[in-house]
Amino acid sequence: MSADFQAPRGIPDYFPPDSADFRAVRDTLTEAARLAGYGHIELPVFEDTALFARGVGESTDVVSKEMYTFADRGDRSVTLRPEGTAGVMRAVIQHGLDRGQLPVKLCYSGPFFRYEKPQTGRYRQLQQVGVEAIGVDDPALDAEVIAISDEGYRRLGLSGFRLEITSLGDDETRPRYREALQEFLFGLDLDEPTRQRAQLNPLRVLDDKRPEIKEATAGAPLLIDYLSDDSRAHFDAVLGHLDRLGVPYVRNPRLVRGLDYYTKTTFEFVHDGLGAQSGIGGGGRYDGLMRQLGGKQDLSGIGFGLGVDRTLLALRAEEVASRGIERVAVFGVPLGADAKTELVTLAGRLRAVGIAVDLAYGDRGLKGAMKAADRSGARLALVLGDRELAERTIDVKDLRTGEQQQLPLDTIVDDIRRLLV
Ligand code: HAM
Repeated sequence: MSADFQAPRGIPDYFPPDSADFRAVRDTLTEAARLAGYGHIELPVFEDTALFARGVGESTDVVSKEMYTFADRGDRSVTLRPEGTAGVMRAVIQHGLDRGQLPVKLCYSGPFFRYEKPQTGRYRQLQQVGVEAIGVDDPALDAEVIAISDEGYRRLGLSGFRLEITSLGDDETRPRYREALQEFLFGLDLDEPTRQRAQLNPLRVLDDKRPEIKEATAGAPLLIDYLSDDSRAHFDAVLGHLDRLGVPYVRNPRLVRGLDYYTKTTFEFVHDGLGAQSGIGGGGRYDGLMRQLGGKQDLSGIGFGLGVDRTLLALRAEEVASRGIERVAVFGVPLGADAKTELVTLAGRLRAVGIAVDLAYGDRGLKGAMKAADRSGARLALVLGDRELAERTIDVKDLRTGEQQQLPLDTIVDDIRRLLV
């Protein structure tokens, strides 16, 4: 029988037991940021379409092909957020967060939306953990942001990834490089749309996935050879910090990111166990974004977005043991109506002191209920029947050793606490 409804194409569901791993990945990556002083920001799921068009760039695939854009009932054009950086910058400008201590350090997590062709590791609703540090142009801050990502992945037990890094230069670098690149591209035999792209945004042509374009542009000039003195010094300083922090990296002067706001330090974490969708996270500096979005100040920024879905796939590819075990500690097995009433109350008291408890609902009898207790992964089963209830006792079974003991019902909360340590 086919169900009437399915989730929209390319939109994953997260449910037990795998959702526990999902949460562990998200929380571990977030924890790495928290340890470096990033405060939580909860962003709107949709914003003005113009924010992304201007912030991310009209000529990017994300804006030109992948946005979920619609008119709301007031006929305003809004877009489901395809990424988090533009929204964070909007919030910083709107609420004057940059008037306080700098850098403003913020961390977020949640779903983002891109109308891409779905495949393994590429979803239309994707989950990211991101950080942004706004207001200080210091190579040490770039290194911090990169080290947090590296630390987050390592805490999860991931090892088969590499950090690719380059510099995209600054306002002085870009025009010089753009000119050299355009000169090269216009010398090639390109189709009309690609030629137009070369005119509008030549860097994007280097991001073209078609093999014939890749081949044709293999000998293109490299931006890294056109860096201004300031960008060069900044980049060298970032790499120096990473060396001292023990964060391994490979320079990839051909690294091109899919968003237009990047300047100077730009990086991507790549995992080879994932096939085509190998980017498990990425980020970089975006020193012109605040100005671009109409901020009164012109503050620099740096951040990352780590893909939770792809990190999860990478962990599976490496067969790293699941860490996200979301199980109850105690499972109640009531035998009879009065026992159930007692256990429902007891479960509430145990939860109130922080112990995770589940019960066998639905009056299944001892055998079925004990099976449910085993499946729950709980350490202790509490079996209560009419006779024990009359005697104010309860049977406590250790589900790992099989040992059973009878304990007084009236002091059971303290006894269970003691047994669980
Ligand atoms: P991004 O590289 O577009 O950067 O996305 C970051 C990560 O999100 C990717 O490395 C990938 O792991 C994951 N991701 C992207 N698209 C998909 C998809 N369709 N399905 C599954 N996972 C996906 C940004 O979004 C920037 N806002 C990052 C940033 C923050 N830069 C500076 N600050």
